[in-house]
Amino acid sequence: MSNVKKLIEKHLPRIIEIRRDIHSHPELAFEEVETSKKVVSVLSELGGWDIQPGVAKTGVVAILGADKPGPCVGLRADMDALPIYEETKKPYASKRPGVMHACGHDGHTACLLGAAMVLTEIKDELSGPVRLLFQPAEEGHGGGKLMCEEGALENVSAIFGLHCWPGTDRGNVALARGPAMASSNAFTITVKGKGGHAAFPHQTIDPVLVSAHIITALQSICSRSTNPLDSSVVTVAQVNAGTAHNVIPDEVVMKGTFRSLKLETLKMLFERVPLIASKTAEAFGASAETEIFDGYPVLVNDIKASNYLAGIVQDTVGSGRFQDNEDPVMGAEDFSFYCQNIPGAFWWLGMTPQGQEPISVHTPRFDFDDEIIPTAVELHVEVARRFAAGWS
Ligand code: NI
Repeated sequence: MSNVKKLIEKHLPRIIEIRRDIHSHPELAFEEVETSKKVVSVLSELGGWDIQPGVAKTGVVAILGADKPGPCVGLRADMDALPIYEETKKPYASKRPGVMHACGHDGHTACLLGAAMVLTEIKDELSGPVRLLFQPAEEGHGGGKLMCEEGALENVSAIFGLHCWPGTDRGNVALARGPAMASSNAFTITVKGKGGHAAFPHQTIDPVLVSAHIITALQSICSRSTNPLDSSVVTVAQVNAGTAHNVIPDEVVMKGTFRSLKLETLKMLFERVPLIASKTAEAFGASAETEIFDGYPVLVNDIKASNYLAGIVQDTVGSGRFQDNEDPVMGAEDFSFYCQNIPGAFWWLGMTPQGQEPISVHTPRFDFDDEIIPTAVELHVEVARRFAAGWS
């Protein structure tokens, strides 16, 4: 057994304890005050870390071996929870009704702290600095973007991060090279017509009917305006209108998201969604305005960073548990902001025992799998330990 593996075994009970403690005390985006304090307190206890709290409001950056001459490697974990009522019935379930760690960020944070424990003990083996990024607000609020803007990537040559992955077998590492996760933008379409009595539709301009046409027409974008070999998604997820079964309303408000894996497809979505909405509405004598909100860019795994990571995965977990060249997914991740600035690779760690039905992230029964902690910690540590030799 390698020294790193032995050290992980030694620290494992403490890492699990931290993971469950964070799980019990979930905090929403940019409110990760207690989680952030916990991170700072564990790192302070370890000693040797230059700790910077308050980066991106509630984020923490910590550096080990700042004076070492080799290139600096970045490792990132996200810390925020989701507005969901937990139904796991676990003894360490959320103590905050309506808030829960339903995306495993409790596990990500604990595993990076676990890596810090091991790295502290093998500090002499490191040839370059290690920078840990504990970021806030991954869930739709772009904490990663703010971390970049506030200098969290200073002097970092490459960055690596992981997400626990229920759709993949427990302990397997999956890597998509190149585009790995989609860009994501939310939109709101407001359709304005003219309300009236449901029995006299000819005296109205029915925005409900107009909206139905818009929803249908929007689906032509992915099926007819993009290359069939290029993936994109347009989803209308929310439709709000009306007050009674016999009243045609004045207005319909629809909310949704569009996603793509390529910049040119994204540009096309930015143009086509508002155009289809407004022109369809116009044809019926109504009007439609589209507001598109800032989102996450596509997450592109750098080739060199992917190669470096793949070598370490082969060496540690072995090729039998390595799902290389996985297909990208249309979920989004704000790790993409780091990858826009420096080379990076984001990998997935499977967490569902073989043959079992996966419980999806963002659902009330989801819980991070403590069994995958040793693999997560080992890969973090090895990525950092071998960086000076393996990256240049
Ligand atoms: Ni997540």
